[in-house]
Amino acid sequence: MLNLRVSTSECWLAQVSSHLDELLIDHAHCEKKAAGVAMNLLFAYVDHVELVRDLSTIVQEELGHFHLVLDLLERRGIRFRKLPASSYAGRLHALAGKLEPMRAVDRLLIAALIEARSCERFGVLRDRLPDPELAAFFGALFESEARHHATYVRLAKLFANEETVAARLDCLAIAEAQIIAEGESVPRVHS
Ligand SMILES: [Fe+2]
Ligand SMILES: [Fe+2]
Repeated sequence: MLNLRVSTSECWLAQVSSHLDELLIDHAHCEKKAAGVAMNLLFAYVDHVELVRDLSTIVQEELGHFHLVLDLLERRGIRFRKLPASSYAGRLHALAGKLEPMRAVDRLLIAALIEARSCERFGVLRDRLPDPELAAFFGALFESEARHHATYVRLAKLFANEETVAARLDCLAIAEAQIIAEGESVPRVHS
């Protein structure tokens, strides 16, 4: 359903489990960035009404998630602060083609894959974190990120036929799996 080629490793779970405060701060940044990505795509492709409606809903939902994470940080006495991001999203965005309409397809599918990975990892955190508040928190976000993934894949089909979108999604999912398999030294939602 999520079009991911590799599942999250035990290694990632161990990495973030010992740095949960940092993971939560990074998570807040991810939700803020997800709203920004949706807004940028809305601005870029404003002449597609279906896209504009769906992406403005995603912007609102991601900002809602951002507030939920900020509230959680506050309850736990964790100060929201700047944090160096993982290279994951930047490496994926660098794979987008330069020429339209395929650039639109790529940007939407890259957003779809980032949503899918967030969703998959929220599922891992829901099922494996011993802290019941955190497990429930991630579990509550799982469904909307899965829905965002599906929305982005559907919107990519406004710019190319089904077969082209499927082939490109396959190709980008392989690249995403390679980046995830490499991992990163910093504990992040997408390390
Ligand atoms: Fe979100
Ligand atoms: Fe999302």
